[in-house]
Amino acid sequence: RFDQHSEVWLFGYGSLIFRPDFPFLARRPARIHGWTRRFWQGSHDHRGTDTHPGRVATLIRQPGAECTGMAFLITPEVFAHLDFREKNGYLRFCTEMRFDDGSCAEGLVYIATEDNAAFLGPAPEPDIARHIASAAGPSGPNSEYLLRLAEALREMGAQDEHVFEIERHLIKATYI
Ligand code: BEZ
Repeated sequence: RFDQHSEVWLFGYGSLIFRPDFPFLARRPARIHGWTRRFWQGSHDHRGTDTHPGRVATLIRQPGAECTGMAFLITPEVFAHLDFREKNGYLRFCTEMRFDDGSCAEGLVYIATEDNAAFLGPAPEPDIARHIASAAGPSGPNSEYLLRLAEALREMGAQDEHVFEIERHLIKATYI
């Protein structure tokens, strides 16, 4: 379906924001509606292990909510090689994204759905912070993921109380 297009927008809300490891033609902050970012997905392979999975971001449906992320304009060839494409439990959908100048475009999003084996689900923010402080995997400490995401969201001027509250608890848990 996307082969007819020479370029595709990919909306990133997690590690794609601070660590895009693929070539892209453009990068623009964007917002999507009806979704909220939550640290509810387990990570066995990047920010945790099989016995102690880390927690990473996914999107949860929430009417009226808005999620700020980064949109990447990529070619279909790059898109075809993105590794999360084939992962079990990831759902891909197409949604409208709004850029800061008010213009809109269609973008693809990948989310880890609650029926995937690694899904951890909700927990209070202080508990999520403690969990993140204690986890690490092949891609590095789970705390680095959270802190870099929070930093990138701040730079974009994003509102994300869930992420910033976990960040506050994590900093407290780590340095006091
Ligand atoms: C994201 O940052 O949007 C993302 C990262 C990994 C898998 C799916 C989505």
